Amino acid sequence: CGIVGILGTSLVAPQIVEALKRLEYRGYDSAGVATLNNGVIERRRAEGKLRNLEAKLQETPLAGSVGIGHTRWATHGKPNERNAHPHATDKVAVVHNGIIENFRELKSELEEQGVVFETETDTEVVLQLVSKEISNGRKPVDAVATVLPRLHGAFALAFLFAGEDDLLIGARHGAPLAVGYGEGENYLGSDALALAPFTANIAYLDEGDWVIVTRESVDIRDASGKSVDRQKYTINTGSFLADKGNYRHFMLKEINEQSEVVGRTFSHYVDFASGRVNLPVELPFKFQNLKRLSIVACGTAYYAGLVGKYWFEKIARLPVEIDIASEFRYREMPLEEGEAALFVSQSGETADTLASLRYCKAQKQHIISVVNVATSTIARESDVVIPTLAGPEIGVASTKAFTCQLSVLLCLAIAAGRARGTLSEDEEKSLVDSIISTPGLISETLKCEQDVEKLARDIAKSRDVLYLGRGTSYPLALEGALKLKELSYIHAEGYAAGELKHGPIALIDETLPVVVIAPSDSAYEKTVSNMQEVAARGGRIILLTDQTGSQASGLDNISSVVVPDCASVIAPIVYAIPIQLLAYHTAVLMGKDADQPRNLAKSVTVE
Ligand code: G6P
Repeated sequence: CGIVGILGTSLVAPQIVEALKRLEYRGYDSAGVATLNNGVIERRRAEGKLRNLEAKLQETPLAGSVGIGHTRWATHGKPNERNAHPHATDKVAVVHNGIIENFRELKSELEEQGVVFETETDTEVVLQLVSKEISNGRKPVDAVATVLPRLHGAFALAFLFAGEDDLLIGARHGAPLAVGYGEGENYLGSDALALAPFTANIAYLDEGDWVIVTRESVDIRDASGKSVDRQKYTINTGSFLADKGNYRHFMLKEINEQSEVVGRTFSHYVDFASGRVNLPVELPFKFQNLKRLSIVACGTAYYAGLVGKYWFEKIARLPVEIDIASEFRYREMPLEEGEAALFVSQSGETADTLASLRYCKAQKQHIISVVNVATSTIARESDVVIPTLAGPEIGVASTKAFTCQLSVLLCLAIAAGRARGTLSEDEEKSLVDSIISTPGLISETLKCEQDVEKLARDIAKSRDVLYLGRGTSYPLALEGALKLKELSYIHAEGYAAGELKHGPIALIDETLPVVVIAPSDSAYEKTVSNMQEVAARGGRIILLTDQTGSQASGLDNISSVVVPDCASVIAPIVYAIPIQLLAYHTAVLMGKDADQPRNLAKSVTVE
């Protein structure tokens, strides 16, 4: 899931491993490096963590000052050493992200010509095609140019060629690839973070671009083969400090950063002095002219969008149509020209979200995105970007990006409410007061960590866990269940509290913990009734509520985590803290890797 290529002046294998470490956060299950040693391709690959690859390299180091490396997240073929990248023949080595959709077709064509495949991967067809072109006498650049148009799917590639000590070729078709400009050295990488130790000067390949890199030159070509200029960015490498500080995991560090980053994000969109939301960007549409807003995202970002729906509808009386991107992109949803579609994504690279964005663009929607990586593809393809200012999020399970997404969506809903005349100046001021109180409330809420840790001991022994919530606490229940299953591998489900009696109530017995997210808002009484239904059947309730709510539940023998009283509008941001901590501590108690849960990837650039 991560690509690195270095045309260097000294030994590159250790540098490639360094860069791969910075891509670890994306999630992976095997890794490898290939370099040229006197013109001959040599590689080392290993299943599992990068330390396994490092151990191999220590035993049998790789010489050479040009090379490519990869962390793989399996799509076709098991995550073992044989399927790990780079794949290589004696002529060429390749690393690949994404999926070659027509690989079966290409594979049978090659097999008919007598090519014997060594792996189960889709990547190997690329390797064999390029290798065959070179065997037929083509130069590397021509070989790649011949093969690229034959590949369908969403992918990024990097090639290394035998006998070519001053050449790397990269290609982008639906998965991100950046070029880094150095002095007498040049680089390829999946993102700027990987290249940050080497250079701050980056260009991103556009869709269909490929690039011929030597130590002194970078020649970016478009799909037709014409040399093109792509904008160069100077990346602030300081902002990429991937450092755990005093925390045991990045996830815990990121949970604890939320007071700061939510405050930073809000202050970008709110003028605290006047008590008004103030978007620093011009929108390409007017909220008052919209009949409907579409929101599309995946995973945790989708749940942020779902909270956003409640806000837009309530605060701005703007109907919202929301869907997960992998469904939305194929639904062929009719969209009226000139409406707006909003995409939420931490990475800005999620393949399904990007495909949905392109669908909406083709349907003449105004495209607005809420992304954390400001230079990402989704950001670049949007009409307007409203960034979350969470900083790099390294833990695979999203935490601070989620609360920053909520912060941005709330500001947008308030801006929409003002524009649509559904919000008076006083109402806006009171919402802004709630916003101003949020960073402090997050800090207060973080103090519940010890209580949560105690409850985690109980959760860690469970087979299943149910999460319930109403209103904006319903998406929180979904997010709570997602976090727990991602991190601890315990089966968990989130349900709207009112749906309890339509099914999940059948599961209730003394073995099933039921986490109820219930701020003392207008839905509180109703949720308490649902808790009583659980209690009456011997269910074990874990109540997340505020001081007022904890005094009013009327239920004995329940465990609770009490957070400070807060305005109901910002409750989703505040209650995100205990649900994140609960999932984190459960995972840690169970000895699971909280930063890199098995099978998951941070940035999912495949369908
Ligand atoms: C993956 C990550 C999740 C994330 C989702 C959407 O599944 O593990 O944490 O919520 O992708 O990613 P995005 O980058 O679009 O927010």
